[in-house]
Order: sequence, then structure tokens, then C-alpha cells
Amino acid sequence: MPEKVGQLILYYFSGTGNARNVAAWFAEEAQSRQIPTEVVDIAGIDRKHINPFPGGALIGFVSPTHGFNYPPVSMYFIFRFPRSRGNRVFLMNTRAGLKLSKWFVPGLSGLALWLSAIVLLLKGYRIFGLRSIDLPSNWISFHPGVKEAVVESIYAHCKRVTKGFASKILDGKKVYTAFRDIIQDILVSPISIGYFFMGRFMLAKTFYANELCDNCELCSNNCPMHAILTVDKRPFWSYRCESCMRCMNNCPKRAIETSHGYITGIMFLINLVILALFWKWVATFITIPEHNAWIEILLTFIRWGITFLSLVVFYRIFHYLLRIPLLRDLFYYTSLTRYRFWRRYKPSKKMISQLP
Ligand SMILES: Cc1cc2nc3c(=O)[nH]c(=O)nc-3n(C[C@H](O)[C@H](O)[C@H](O)COP(=O)(O)O)c2cc1C
Repeated sequence: MPEKVGQLILYYFSGTGNARNVAAWFAEEAQSRQIPTEVVDIAGIDRKHINPFPGGALIGFVSPTHGFNYPPVSMYFIFRFPRSRGNRVFLMNTRAGLKLSKWFVPGLSGLALWLSAIVLLLKGYRIFGLRSIDLPSNWISFHPGVKEAVVESIYAHCKRVTKGFASKILDGKKVYTAFRDIIQDILVSPISIGYFFMGRFMLAKTFYANELCDNCELCSNNCPMHAILTVDKRPFWSYRCESCMRCMNNCPKRAIETSHGYITGIMFLINLVILALFWKWVATFITIPEHNAWIEILLTFIRWGITFLSLVVFYRIFHYLLRIPLLRDLFYYTSLTRYRFWRRYKPSKKMISQLP
């Protein structure tokens, strides 16, 4: 006899709306069965104070995938979650889906579901569902936003998939679709570690506001991480930024850019000048043995550590240099996001459901 769901509590984090919409579709299915449902945006609550749940409560998590893992905001939330005496949980991640001709192409989860599932298991929860939903990619630092017609088609498909998953979970069944991807998830997992410790910070340091910015502060007021500060009367992305892309995709003036020219140039400068000088200086004290795996690993850490620290300093300088017209133009015209063909990402307008 399947266990009855007494209550559904669904936690989500969302940058540009995909995960939020998955949460809404799931909640819709629960409400159609008269199950009391609560949907909570984890960026908007005090995550340190969540009380243990009553026995029949089903708990769900939905979050985007960032760098082959849940973004830290979702992960830390789950790490701090109260212990349980056997509540059922399900975990979902939205990924970068594509559509090639008529085929829906999935994204890649990496550690996203596995790490959080292990933590929840250790806290005493019972995992009833693990599922990825391949909504369109919102990562417009890397590629132009997906065309509207394709977004609509992927959305319609994902809504059906989410409803099917919700229906089974609410019927008390176990659904572990994510196991299909476990081999590729393990293979990409080392990248998620690099992304967690460095990649995500570097990405945040490629954002800037162009000449169209009128300091309306929409970006900083709507940032789920409160990561956008005002420095010299201009938006400035701090290290709290999760690169969720809400600011860049939602700016009504298209004033927020990723500076491809700056980041490429600065990586060359750091690697060809700063690191070269550093190694020359080190070589005056010690001889570095070759073909030793441990030394290679240590050197890789040192190299990336220096790169990372240099980026912190240079971002502040970059922000200042944007005041100088000639340099500003150089940065503007080498930002791919500036060009018309580089669309912003907008989730489907037709498929959006209200949250309860
Ligand atoms: C910084 C960043 C990293 C991402 N990393 C991945 C990834 O590792 N794998 C993947 O499939 N999608 C990745 N994506 C795509 C998003 O997970 C996907 O578009 C998601 O549906 C966005 O959800 P949201 O609109 O709720 O923020 C990434 C997006 C961003 C902005």
C-alpha cells in the first residue's frame, strides 16, 4: 500500500525562472489532488531556522545546475537542513537542454543530485525521487539565448515530463531517472570541484554595466544573492554572485555584459607575464624537479591560486578603467553579449504557472 502524502513542501532556487517553473508545475499536480502544498524560494528565507517536519510531509528540492553541481546557495541550504525520522524527499535539477531538429538534447548534472541525496540520506530522509529536467540553457555568458520558438517547445516537453514525474511521486512510487546518467555524472565530477572553488568566482568577475546603464538598480534589487553592490555609482559584482544570470537576462536596457575581451586578455596577461615572472623568481631559489605527479599537482594549485588572486585585484582596476572612454570602447566592442544576435534568455511566457 503506497504511503499517502499528507503535505508537500517544495524548496526551490532559481536564477532565470526555469527551476521556479518546475516547482510550480509540481505544486499544480499536488494541488489537483487536494494535497496541502507550500512552495518556498530558498533565496528569500532564513535558511538557518527550519523546523523538523511532521511524519507524512513530502519534501522536494528544485534547483538549477551550475558547474555540474547544485549552486552553493542550494547546497548549503540542504547541508543545514534539519534531521528527519524518515520523511520522504525528492530532488530535481534543471539543466541546459537543447533542441536539435526534433531531438531534445539533455544537459549534464555531475554531482548536483548525488551529493545532496547523500547528505539527506545521512540526515535520515528517504530518497523517493531523483530527476533532471532539461529546460533551455540560460548561460548567456557562453552562448546567445535560445530562440523563443525553441524555448516554447522545450518548455511544453518539460512540463509534460515534470507532471509525469510528480504524478508518480505523489502516488507514492519511487522514481530514480537520474541513475541513467550516473556514469557521465561521475566522469565530469572533477570539473564541479574546480568550478566550486574557482570557476564560479571568476565568472562573477566578467560582468559589468555598459553605457546604457541608468543606475535603476533593478539588477541589485532583484539579485537573489544580494551580490550586486554600487561602486563609483556603477553596479559591481561581488563574490557572493552565483552567476545565476538573472541580472543579465532581465535588464530592460540590455546594459549588463560579460566582458569576453577583458577576461581573455587578463588571462593571457596573468599567464604570460605574472606567472612567468613568478616562476623565474622561484627558480632563483629552488630547482623544480620534473615529472613528479605531486609537484605537478602542487604547481597547478599555485598557478590557479595566483590567477584567482590576480583576478580579484584586476576586476577592481577593470571597473575603474571603464571610466576611460578609449578603454571603455575596447571592452564594449570585445564583449560578445553586446551584439544583437547575442539574445538574452527568457523563459516561456505561455507555460508559466502560478505558485501556490
Ligand atoms: C553559471 C552556470 C552554470 C551552468 N552549469 C550547467 C551545468 O553544469 N550543466 C547543465 O546541464 N546546465 C548548466 N547550466 C544551465 C542551467 O542549469 C539551466 O539553464 C537551468 O535550467 C537554469 O535554471 P534557472 O532558470 O532556474 O536559473 C548552467 C548555467 C549557468 C548560468
